[in-house]
Amino acid sequence: MKVCVIYDTKKGSTEMIANWMRESIERKAEVRMMHVTKVDSLKDCDLVVIGSPIYYERPLKSVLKFLEQRQNELKGKKVAVFVVCMAGIFGHAGKTYAEKRYVGALIKRVPGKIIGTAIIRGWIRKPDFSQKVVVQKWIKELLKNLEVKS
Ligand SMILES: Cc1cc2nc3c(=O)[nH]c(=O)nc-3n(C[C@H](O)[C@H](O)[C@H](O)COP(=O)(O)O)c2cc1C
Repeated sequence: MKVCVIYDTKKGSTEMIANWMRESIERKAEVRMMHVTKVDSLKDCDLVVIGSPIYYERPLKSVLKFLEQRQNELKGKKVAVFVVCMAGIFGHAGKTYAEKRYVGALIKRVPGKIIGTAIIRGWIRKPDFSQKVVVQKWIKELLKNLEVKS
């Protein structure tokens, strides 16, 4: 099984988070981590994990564009999406908002089967290492679901 982790970042936090994902996945499956502008083919990806930071209420254009341009390749794929943002600091209401608005903007462009979503708390300056556990837990669940469903 091969998992492809695709991301973009402006200041580096989403890249660090994608790296934590890669580390967690590589204990269980083959993994490839790719910047969204450097993805060649998705042919051998059994699971596509794609994520974006949120700036001014939206995922980055590069990620939205990728999803729109790769519709044919994504069709029939298992896909998991994540956003990196600060909305989580506003508690339950912030998470609900982020799920609807930020995660929603990604999922509505995914023609494949969504098997998981996550909202990861980002940061502005210093890395928030508490999020590493959140990432590890999400990946563990994701791979477990994949085993059950495939
Ligand atoms: C100029 C700016 C605008 C932002 N806008 C939002 C926003 O609308 N909603 C949100 O939840 N977080 C927002 N954030 C927080 C970022 O999503 C967060 O810092 C994230 O970790 C940045 O990811 P990156 O380091 O991968 O670029 C904003 C951050 C900055 C600096």
